[in-house]
Order: sequence, then C-alpha cells, then structure tokens
Amino acid sequence: MTKIAVAKGDGIGPEIMDAVLDIFKAAKVPLTYEFVDMGKWVFDKGYSNGMTPEAQATIESLGILFKGPMETPKGKGVKSVNVTARKTWNTYANKRTFQTLHGVDTVFSKAGIPIDITIVRENIEDTYGGVEHMLTHDVALSRRFITRPGSEQVIRYAFEMARKKKATRITCGHKANIMKITDGLFLEVFYEVAKDYPDLKADDVIVDDLCMKLVSRPDLFDVVVLTNLQGDIVSDLCAGLVGGLGFAPSANIGDHISIFEAVHGTAPDIAGKNIANPTALLLSGFGMLRHLGLMEAAAMIENALLYTLESGVHTGDFGSKATPSLNTTEFAAAIIANFGKQPANNPKPLLEDKEVTPTIFKLEKNPMLESKEHGVEYINGVDMFIESNEQPNVVAEKCLQHTLELFKLVTISNRGTQVWPKGSSFTNLVNQYACRFESVGDVPLTQTDIIELYKRLAKDFKICSTELLNTWGDKKAYSLAQGQ
Ligand code: NAI
Repeated sequence: MTKIAVAKGDGIGPEIMDAVLDIFKAAKVPLTYEFVDMGKWVFDKGYSNGMTPEAQATIESLGILFKGPMETPKGKGVKSVNVTARKTWNTYANKRTFQTLHGVDTVFSKAGIPIDITIVRENIEDTYGGVEHMLTHDVALSRRFITRPGSEQVIRYAFEMARKKKATRITCGHKANIMKITDGLFLEVFYEVAKDYPDLKADDVIVDDLCMKLVSRPDLFDVVVLTNLQGDIVSDLCAGLVGGLGFAPSANIGDHISIFEAVHGTAPDIAGKNIANPTALLLSGFGMLRHLGLMEAAAMIENALLYTLESGVHTGDFGSKATPSLNTTEFAAAIIANFGKQPANNPKPLLEDKEVTPTIFKLEKNPMLESKEHGVEYINGVDMFIESNEQPNVVAEKCLQHTLELFKLVTISNRGTQVWPKGSSFTNLVNQYACRFESVGDVPLTQTDIIELYKRLAKDFKICSTELLNTWGDKKAYSLAQGQ
C-alpha cells in the first residue's frame, strides 16, 4: 500500500479532510496516511515556516502531500505555509481542472454550454517570490522573476498533460505586449516547446482578452498555461464559471514531490460547524489518486460524486434552496451510499490510461536548472535608481557632473516614463528616478567601472538600487523607458 503524508489544515480543513478520508476508507482506496504537523497552530508554536522539521522530513521521504487549507497568520515576517511548501519542494506546475458538474447550476450549465478547461499555472516564480523593497518612503518595488528553465518545466508539463488529456488546443495566456522581457520570455519558451508537440494546436492570447473570451465562450478553451499571478487570477475566474470555489481542485506537481489541495481557504466564517462543502478537496483527491495510478478507485468515487450532484443533493453553499442542504458528514455519507452508481452525464471510464508516477528519491544536492544558451555577453551600462524630489533637469545636471568619460547619460525615467532628455510637464513624478548610463561607443564595461560611477553619484544621491544593462550578441537584455 502506498503511504502519503496528510495535513488536515486549519479552519474547515479537518472537517473536509475527515469527510474525504472517510470516503476513501469506504471505497477501500489502497493508501495509508501519515499525519503531519503544518498550519497556523504550528506557526503559533514558533516554527517560522509553519511546519515542524518532522513534517518536512516525512513529506520529503513520502513525496505526496494531501493537505487541507491553512491559515497564514497576519503580520510581518511570516510567509504563507502554502506558498513556502510549493516553492521549497519545487512543485512548479499548478494544475486546476474546471468541468461542468451536473447539479451545480451556473449560467453556462443552464445554457447547455459544456466547460472542460485545465489551467496550468506556473507555481514558483513571478512576483510570488515576494522579493519586495521600499525604495523610498513613497515607492515600493517588487521583483518579477520569469526564468527560461522555470518556464520550460511548467510549459513542458502542460504539453505532456494536454497530450494525456487528449486535448486539441493548448493556449498560452500572457501580457508580452507590455512586459516584453518577462512575459516575452515565457511566450518564447512556449513556442519553442510547442515544436515538440506538432499534434497539439498551440496558440496564445493576451490575458485580458483571454478573460473576456473565457466568460463569453469558455467552451472554446481546453488547456491554458500562464505565469503565476495571471494564472492565479484566471483560475479563480474559471472556478466561477463552474460554480465557485467549492468545486475548484488543485494539484501542485513537481518532479519529486506533489501537493494536492483545494483552491479555497480555511473559510473561518463557517469553520467548526460541519457545514463546509468537501467537493473541492475530494476532486483534488481524484487528481492525487490518478497521479498515483489508482485510476479505478478515482473513477468509481468520482462517478458516485457526479451521481450525487445530479440527484440534487447539496451542501449549504450551492444547489436548490427548495431542498434542504446536507452537512459535511451527511454529504460524504450520501456519496458513499452512491458507490457503484453511474451518472447520466460524463461518467468516468473505470479503465483509464495511467498517468506517469514520478520517481521519488532522495536528492543529495539542489538541482541547478541552467539553460545552455549563452551568447557573447557584456555589460554596456547600468540603471541607477536614485531618490530625489527635484525636477528632472536638476537630476540630469547632477548626474552629468559625475559621469565619467566611459559613460553617457542616456535617459532618465520616473515610474517607467521618460522625463529626460525629452518628456512632458504633464507627467506626474514620484521621488525616485531611474537614470540610465550606457558606455560611450558601446564599449564593454567592467563591474569596477560601475562601482566607480556608483561612488561618484552617491555624493549627490541616495542610490536605492542598481541594475546592470547586459547585452548578449546584438540583443539588448533590458527594456526601454516609455517614450525613449
Ligand atoms: P476562503 O476560500 O477561505 O473563503 C471565501 C468564501 O468562500 C467564504 O465565504 C467561505 O465560507 C466560502 N468557502 C470557502 N470554501 C468553502 C467550502 N469548502 N464550502 C463552503 N464554503 C466555502 O478565503 P478567505 O476568507 O480569503 O481566506 C481565509 C484563510 O484561508 C486566510 O487565512 C487565507 O490565507 C487562507 N487560504 C489558504 C489557502 C490554502 O491553504 N491553499 C488558499 C486560500 C486562502
């Protein structure tokens, strides 16, 4: 029997987890469970990452974590245990499936428009690194990491999954028209990977247009892959299309460790009342069973769930107000009572193609993901982010005084908009400028040259941050200021 780690979580977590494990037990699912300590009460005991070292060791040795929602204590310095778990164990792909569930009324189900969308969201990078700084009292900066190997991991997973799902279309959602370097890289990797999957129709849609199309014609989408923040928003939008958070499962897939959980949180407003809807966690459980190759058990229980929903049985958060709602335990019992029944719509075949189960092994060192592409690389300038509440021409004058013969001051921008040498007096300013220095004649610079410039500018300005301007071959590896 396969052993997995289980963390019941906070709020409604223990109630819905008990309901799901009761269903698994009744179905004789061949799993054993090791319960681990994670969540708010673990933070409260003084473990700053929200899990005990024993919990971490157990999860790393078993490779599968089935978890209830967990509360992140509010306050400085404490990071979400959910995000920490996904990042620490490199569960790089967040897969969320959204399907029409008969018995769960939505505008689309009433209109007879079927939905079967899988969102694959990058799970590690983007602004979710949470690398943020106040540059001045007025200006906060967040770093957005989009990496080539990180993008490739999640995009390749999405294509493999799309093939297994027998999807016909895979779409990349992005904002590469604005964020040309970060989203541009994600989109570039998408089309590179697409070349290995000629059987799948690969296309891309700008994320705002994607949202509009998803709410008007959701039936046109199959698999959609997105960066972290955009994927987070779009997947909640899709949850709304199929009936809300109570029906949104989530799988965090990595090469070694995978985490299965519901999308929703701890629902503190209904915790302890035994009225929460366990469906999202149960659907997440099906993803886990299939991931472990337990296809028959997953299909049998899923058919019972679909039959139960079709019969009009419901918890308090959905369904007809004309029929009384069941509590969490009663809802689980109703599903168990329907084992062996076939739903009228979309019954799941008991014999499905098995998904590949990842190999779990102990890693001796941290894997280094590095792409093989290196062009001829040199530094040809620097952006100096300085604090100043003076006018752009005054900032420029001071910069020019300190510019060594190696550097030329090319542009000054404020919040990404050029304000010097050209600009408009209608541009509102904040007290932080980016001053761009490039090498005269595109001569390669050294870091010592940059430090020399830094020392000189520091006589007049507080330098909040610096960013090297790299050139690879003839490609400038940085964006232009708006208006430059
Ligand atoms: P929430 O998802 O817990 O609740 C939003 C609304 O949906 C509430 O009205 C709640 O009663 C309802 N709801 C959620 N799940 C339900 C269910 N299974 N059955 C019936 N109704 C349900 O979101 P909220 O209130 O923003 O977050 C509460 C806490 O959960 C926070 O501490 C947050 O950090 C945490 N959280 C944890 C997540 C995780 O563990 N993966 C994900 C999202 C939030």
